[in-house]
Amino acid sequence: MRVVFLGPPGAGKGTQARLLHERFGLAQISTGDILRENLARGTELGREAEGYMERGQLVPDELVIGMIEQELLRVTAAGFVMDGFPRTVPQAVALDAMLGRRGTPLNVAVLFKGDRPALVARLASRWTNPRTGRTYNTLTNPPKVAGICDEDGGPLIQREDDRRETVTKRLEVYDRQTKPLVDYYRKARKLVEVDALAPVESVAERIASAIAAEHASP
Ligand code: AP5
Repeated sequence: MRVVFLGPPGAGKGTQARLLHERFGLAQISTGDILRENLARGTELGREAEGYMERGQLVPDELVIGMIEQELLRVTAAGFVMDGFPRTVPQAVALDAMLGRRGTPLNVAVLFKGDRPALVARLASRWTNPRTGRTYNTLTNPPKVAGICDEDGGPLIQREDDRRETVTKRLEVYDRQTKPLVDYYRKARKLVEVDALAPVESVAERIASAIAAEHASP
C-alpha cells in the first residue's frame, strides 16, 4: 500500500503515519523528520535546508525529491506512508514518475481537514522527542512525566518552527503551495478526506477503512 498524507501544519499527519507504521508495517517517510535529523547532524543537506525551515518556507523541490528517491530504495513490499511529501505540484509529478518507473503507483492521498485556530493551538502545545520524532500534546496527550518521553525516557523539546510567527508563515505556505495538490489528487481519483479534529483513534479508523477499501478494489 502506497499512501501520502496532505494537510496543514499540526493536522496530525505525523501522529497517524506513526500508527500506520506500527499497525501495518508501512515504512514511514517523514520529510520533516529527515530534514531535522540532517540539520542536527550538520550534513550538507541539513545546512542547505536550515534557513528555509527556520523561516517556515519550503526547502527547494530538487533537494527533497532527491531525498525521496533515496528513501524509496528502502521501501519493502508492505509499502509506505509519506507525511510531508509531496508538498508542491512538481513534487507530486516527480513522485508519480518515480512510482511509475517501479510499476507501483500511489494508492491513496489522505487530506487532513481542520480549522486554523485549533491547529495553531495544537502546535503551541506540542512536545517532540527529537531522537524518534514521537510527539505529545500537553492538552490532549501529555507524557506521564512532563518533558520526558514515555518510550525512551529522553528529554522532549518544542520545535523551533512552532513559534507563533513561523506557524503563521507555514500556514500561508501551505495555502499557496500545497493546497493545489488537493485538486491534483482529486482529479486522479485518489483523494480521501478525514476530519483532523476528530480523536486520534477515529482518524486512524477512517484512514484504515479507506486503505482497506482501496485494497479490496479490483
Ligand atoms: P514537517 O515536519 O512536515 O511539518 P508540518 O507539515 O508543518 O507538519 P507538522 O509536523 O507540524 O504537523 P503534523 O501534521 O505532522 O501534526 P502532528 O502529528 O505532529 O515540515 C517542517 C518543515 O520541513 C517545513 O516547514 C519545510 O521547511 C520542510 N519540509 C518538510 N517536507 C518538505 C517538502 N516535502 N518540501 C519542502 N520542504 C519540506 O500533530 C500535532 C500535535 O497535535 C501533536 O502535539 C499531536 O500529539 C496532536 N494531535 C495529533 N492528532 C491529534 C488529534 N486527532 N486530536 C488531538 N491532538 C492531536
